[in-house]
Amino acid sequence: MSDVAVIGLGAMGTALAEAFLNKGHSVTVWNRSPAKAQVLAAKGAVVAASLEDAVRSSQLIMVCLLVYDTVHEALAAAQEALSGRTLVNLTNGTPEQARAMSDWAVGHGANYIDGGIMAVPPMIGGQHALILYSGSRQAFDTHAGQLDALGTSMYLGEDAGLAPLYDISLLAGMYGLFAGVLQALSLTGAVGIRAGEFMPLLMSWLNAMQGALPKWAERIDSDDHTSAVVSNLGMQADAYVNLIDASTAAGISTELVLPMQDLMRRGVAAGKANADLSSLVGLLQLSKQATRD
Ligand SMILES: NC(=O)c1ccc[n+]([C@@H]2O[C@H](COP(=O)([O-])OP(=O)(O)OC[C@H]3O[C@@H](n4cnc5c(N)ncnc54)[C@H](OP(=O)(O)O)[C@@H]3O)[C@@H](O)[C@H]2O)c1
Repeated sequence: MSDVAVIGLGAMGTALAEAFLNKGHSVTVWNRSPAKAQVLAAKGAVVAASLEDAVRSSQLIMVCLLVYDTVHEALAAAQEALSGRTLVNLTNGTPEQARAMSDWAVGHGANYIDGGIMAVPPMIGGQHALILYSGSRQAFDTHAGQLDALGTSMYLGEDAGLAPLYDISLLAGMYGLFAGVLQALSLTGAVGIRAGEFMPLLMSWLNAMQGALPKWAERIDSDDHTSAVVSNLGMQADAYVNLIDASTAAGISTELVLPMQDLMRRGVAAGKANADLSSLVGLLQLSKQATRD
């Protein structure tokens, strides 16, 4: 028996297995393409001959494959072996996929924990690697000591969908930021300003703007988007046109920034011109809006 089995040895699965080994845990590994297991075998991992052997090797089974369909497909071959074990699925997916996977695993007698990895492989094992978990509290408490080998663990609740919900929401914030940065560097780069020259200013501006976010949280939680507004939506919607026009004039695609303009205009049309930008959350929540209407 090993302390933990790691199924899936892509860039992330390999980093997970290495982190367990580095913290002194015994590890059994399995990957569809066996060659990827060799580097871990050299570091002390046991290479299972089959996925079922890997599952039977440990009470704690970590799975990190590409997508959920792959996980279903791969684990189907070993479903009988899951009974009584804890399955921790760190594959990126949606809350709905996580809940369905949880039902499936529990239906086969396993404890289920879903996870979201907020890190890239080189960060795994360090404290800055945040791993979100949700699902069986009892199983999480039992294995928390082992899971801490991967980074900083955060347990979110019994609903297996919570970890992917937090994961996807954090990624949404990240991609929004990245989209804006791409536009900014396209604009400055088009006139020959080097990215390295502009980046410090951009980073400092983005850091300053983060300061507005706690107030947004207050406004959203209290549903009060109009008191003490210093940069109202109407003003921002008018100024935003310049961002579109300047991009177009410079031959820069507006595909990343046009949707924000559409949303701002929708907000103004809905009577939110004097409200803060935070009020746009209500317009994005289409199903909630339909219930209110
Ligand atoms: N890398 C990151 O920065 C990062 C960060 C956070 C989260 N994640 C998530 O972690 C998961 C794994 O990412 P990764 O970077 O390790 O990806 P990867 O390097 O592309 O590895 C994919 C893994 O999935 C396996 N796989 C794919 N299709 C399969 C199938 N039909 N049957 C069995 N195994 C199959 C691959 O096996 P083979 O080796 O045989 O192809 C490999 O082990 C993804 O859900 C990803 O979103 C990754």
